[in-house]
Amino acid sequence: MSRLLLIATAIGIGLGGPVLAFHQKGVANCNGCHLTHGEGVEGGMLVGPSADEGLLIAESASDVCLVCHAESLGAVLGADPLSPPPERGGGNFVFLVEDNLNDAAGGAFDPILGDAAGHNLVAPGHNLTADARYTLAPGGTFPANQLGCTSCHDPHGNASFRMLNGAGPVMENVFTFANPAPVAAGVDINGPPETANHHTAYVSGMTEWCGNCHGRHHQGNSGSAFKHRVDGNFGGSASQRYNEYNGDSDPQGGNQATAYVPAVPFEDTGATPSSTTGTGVQSKIMCLSCHRAHATSSPAAGRWDFNVNLLAEDGVESRSYAIPDPYGNPDQGPLCNKCHDRSAAPETFAD
Ligand code: HEC
Ligand code: HEC
Ligand code: HEC
Ligand code: HEC
Ligand code: HEC
Ligand code: HEC
Repeated sequence: MSRLLLIATAIGIGLGGPVLAFHQKGVANCNGCHLTHGEGVEGGMLVGPSADEGLLIAESASDVCLVCHAESLGAVLGADPLSPPPERGGGNFVFLVEDNLNDAAGGAFDPILGDAAGHNLVAPGHNLTADARYTLAPGGTFPANQLGCTSCHDPHGNASFRMLNGAGPVMENVFTFANPAPVAAGVDINGPPETANHHTAYVSGMTEWCGNCHGRHHQGNSGSAFKHRVDGNFGGSASQRYNEYNGDSDPQGGNQATAYVPAVPFEDTGATPSSTTGTGVQSKIMCLSCHRAHATSSPAAGRWDFNVNLLAEDGVESRSYAIPDPYGNPDQGPLCNKCHDRSAAPETFAD
């Protein structure tokens, strides 16, 4: 057994073991992630060569997290990209190892590598490296060669949703966030997968939070080919559409009480993890209405594949994992349709 596993097991986080409130346990748990010995400051924690960096139990910060979180406790890095672990909101980093994500026509012969699946962690102990296509976060200045779990999550725990980093320095001053952590509530990381009545409840602040690294990507001169608003209220017509839309086979048969689909979420102050309620005029569009936070089997961490005309085409050309169609209809189009009636005149679509 490797030393890493021994450490994990020693503090009671073996496979199938009890779920302790690990991150909240304070000093007693420093050795879940740091090497410790003898007496001294910080409970005897060994201090690394740079004097301010506690020596970690694994090769990099992200490798430390993956000791416990790769295939259990949320299973954020599954073993097989064709058979990913249950979805609990964030998507999955296993898709970074895909050799092709391109499901557009001819995609089989024009591969899009798994780098495009989402956020590339720098985790050499798990053979994960920075995304060669980017030096900086698109729309911002975060250095891609530093990106890892602790770029987004606070390793020392905090009270925010999923312990996401708030305003201030992150990763020992690699970068500084201007905006606070978003307000949201997640499902149990050991519980059942995401469904229409069991899902992350997004309340507020997600676009601003992603904006710490990306600015208002897609808006103005963000450099993206795709232009779209990334925040703001739905307003009357988009909200009505979201609620009455029940898939392309039943575009007006839905109702607000049951309109929610986790594949196309939105922010609302009334959101709860069990709520099936659709939008109100005050509900907000945000980055995670179209993307997942970690990675997916679609380019740009899409919640659905942005390159297909019918969801049934997902996975066909690329032979990557097909994201489930929430409406289970072989003729279902892209999920832009949840918020837009694309059969209407362009003016109406733009509204
Ligand atoms: C879940 C893993 C984890 C636990 C538990 C943990 N640390 Fe850390 N710690 C890290 C990582 C990873 C870094 C490297 C900095 C980064 O990536 O944010 C770090 C960095 C540090 C640093 C360097 C300065 C800083 O704050 O970034 C100190 C000091 C430190 N830890 C002390 C502690 C002490 C004391 C405890 C117990 C109370 C503890 N750590 C528990 C993962 C952990
Ligand atoms: C020794 C095992 C262990 C390590 C290493 C570890 N975690 Fe955890 N983590 C846990 C356990 C157990 C839970 C569930 C209980 C809890 O919330 O404390 C958890 C929960 C979480 C959650 C979900 C919290 C929530 O709101 O539901 C996040 C996010 C997380 N860890 C991130 C990290 C990151 C980032 C690192 C690396 C810096 C890390 N973990 C390292 C054991 C670990
Ligand atoms: C700590 C900084 C940071 C935060 C916070 C962050 N990102 Fe990123 N993001 C990056 C970097 C760096 C890249 C480019 C490197 C890469 O793709 O791995 C990137 C790439 C992306 C990509 C393109 C992926 C690809 O491979 O084509 C998408 C989409 C994205 N981010 C969406 C988001 C969303 C949505 C959020 C909020 C939930 C978010 N990001 C939060 C740093 C960040
Ligand atoms: C670019 C930012 C970013 C990076 C990098 C990142 N996370 Fe997350 N993570 C998030 C956000 C945002 C959520 C909430 C997703 C949601 O519910 O929509 C999340 C959710 C989670 C969860 C809850 C389970 C789930 O699937 O939603 C765990 C556990 C977790 N992250 C651990 C990790 C670990 C471990 C790493 C590194 C291997 C990591 N994260 C890297 C932003 C990030
Ligand atoms: C209405 C849906 C939607 C919303 C909302 C959205 N995106 Fe995107 N995003 C897309 C699509 C579609 C693409 C692919 C564009 C392409 O292939 O040209 C994309 C691509 C990206 C990329 C890859 C680089 C690029 O521009 O192609 C990044 C980074 C990204 N989005 C970040 C974000 C962030 C950060 C937010 C919130 C500030 C956000 N997105 C909100 C749909 C959306
Ligand atoms: C979560 C809901 C949602 C999703 C998903 C969504 N949009 Fe939008 N879109 C909006 C809203 C809200 C507006 C603003 C319209 C209004 O004021 O009513 C908008 C506006 C637009 C506009 C008008 C230009 C602009 O920015 O004002 C276009 C074009 C558009 N969307 C295309 C798309 C495409 C293509 C997709 C799929 C990749 C998509 N949208 C996905 C909600 C959404």
